Amino acid sequence: MWQPPNSQKYTHPDGDWPSETAAAASRLFSPISFGAITLEQRTWIPAMVPWRATEEGLVTDDVLEWYERFAKGRPGAIVVEATGVRDIPSGPLLRIGHDRFIPGLRELVDTVHRASDGHTRILIQIIDFLAIRRRPAKEKYFRRYFQLNATHRDALKANGASDAECVETLIAMPDEALSDVLTERELEALRYGYRERVTDLELPHIRSLPEVLPPMFADAAIRAQEAGFDGVELHYAHAYTMASFLSARNTRTDGYGGSQDGRLRLPLEVFDEVRERVGEGYTVGCRFLSDECIDEGTELPDSTYFGLAFADAGMDFLSVSRGGKFEDAKQPKVGASVYPYTGRSGYECMPTIRSDERGPFGRNVPSVSHIRSAIRGAGYETPIVVAGGITSFSQAESILASGEADIIGAARQSLADPDWFRKMHLGRGDEIRRCKFTNYCEALDQRHKQVTCQLWDRTNRDEPGISMSLDGKRRLTAPEWE
Ligand SMILES: Cc1cc2nc3c(=O)[nH]c(=O)nc-3n(C[C@H](O)[C@H](O)[C@H](O)COP(=O)(O)O)c2cc1C
Ligand code: SF4
Repeated sequence: MWQPPNSQKYTHPDGDWPSETAAAASRLFSPISFGAITLEQRTWIPAMVPWRATEEGLVTDDVLEWYERFAKGRPGAIVVEATGVRDIPSGPLLRIGHDRFIPGLRELVDTVHRASDGHTRILIQIIDFLAIRRRPAKEKYFRRYFQLNATHRDALKANGASDAECVETLIAMPDEALSDVLTERELEALRYGYRERVTDLELPHIRSLPEVLPPMFADAAIRAQEAGFDGVELHYAHAYTMASFLSARNTRTDGYGGSQDGRLRLPLEVFDEVRERVGEGYTVGCRFLSDECIDEGTELPDSTYFGLAFADAGMDFLSVSRGGKFEDAKQPKVGASVYPYTGRSGYECMPTIRSDERGPFGRNVPSVSHIRSAIRGAGYETPIVVAGGITSFSQAESILASGEADIIGAARQSLADPDWFRKMHLGRGDEIRRCKFTNYCEALDQRHKQVTCQLWDRTNRDEPGISMSLDGKRRLTAPEWE
């Protein structure tokens, strides 16, 4: 895992847990209304992929149990993991690209409403992502995927050789020497696995994304509405298609790249079509990045411009994340896929307890606050959700009190202790199991394994009726709070 240079280990900020009376009077536990919904409290569990769907993308009992467990802690809102808008196989990740997914998703909604006694609102994050292949073995790359052309031949000085001879030469070449023969994209496909870009305009299915995606997202949003979700979060963050359109690296020349407005065009068109189909009375917002945290990536001036445009377009909420890109990810092992949370941008998305002088707690807050000020300055009241290393009452309360954000998102702290908001609310904060921020959970995600937390997954494994991981070693949900 990437760590900032000269990092040091931090200690948790004091919990400063409130009494029940102080919690009742706090901003954190005060309601907020937006779109068609009211959250009873300003607490939010952002999307977290737990790798529990079927290979066909359907809701399983394990998915229901995962969300049920969070719902028992009665947060203001839970956002269901990134759920694919296409009807294509994508491993055990949830999908919403066809009506056959609706019944399972409806059961998920009912489960959360029931388990929280109606206190928690449930939204779903909807996502599109482009193709990505595992890193191939060198021989496999050259024999199966590589396309030899005249430029390669020139570089190899092998004009009389057959194609097969050229391929053998390439296989035998040391890695460093290949840089003189292959293009950057070919080197990337060899070293990291082939990955599509929104800028690959020579590919018809990439060129046509601006026509294809708005109706696809809108169909998915309609299904979410039919399944009973309280709202939809459009995934415009991290390493995926819509974030790549917003990226400063998007150089598309068809009007959907380049300038700030060009990069915004498709995200706005997707939103407009979603809004038109679901109607004004349904809650729709997006998650986007304050900073891509990569070289030549989007930074705060652009993201502030985007935030203003989203508010102006009528989004009901904005959830602001940070980093999480492919561009600076570590090289995967042969046979594995590149994972977008392994470089500096990944660190910025999910900072660990070892950090630089800015520390791991609330690194995204200053940027989010800047975006929010611009939005308020322009007269919009759109609520802003912040996340990233938030783990104490005083921290959350001071973010709200100083107007840096309107809703507090906590992913890993909620995984460590799904009851932590409830414990705070009831004045029992000293019973909270505090996240260690060492990213054991994220490492499981990286290996596409069922996500659990090191603080509870080996506890009371003989408890009757609990579900275990596929290898039988870990319980899949946190023990109940008595
Ligand atoms: C296991 C895991 C899965 C995640 N999956 C998603 C996801 O599906 N969509 C998303 O926007 N963020 C995802 N995230 C990022 C979190 O929503 C959150 O932004 C990040 O963990 C920082 O917040 P925290 O410090 O409160 O954990 C994931 C994080 C973890 C740990
Ligand atoms: S596994 Fe570690 S980082 Fe993840 S939620 Fe648990 S304590 Fe926090």
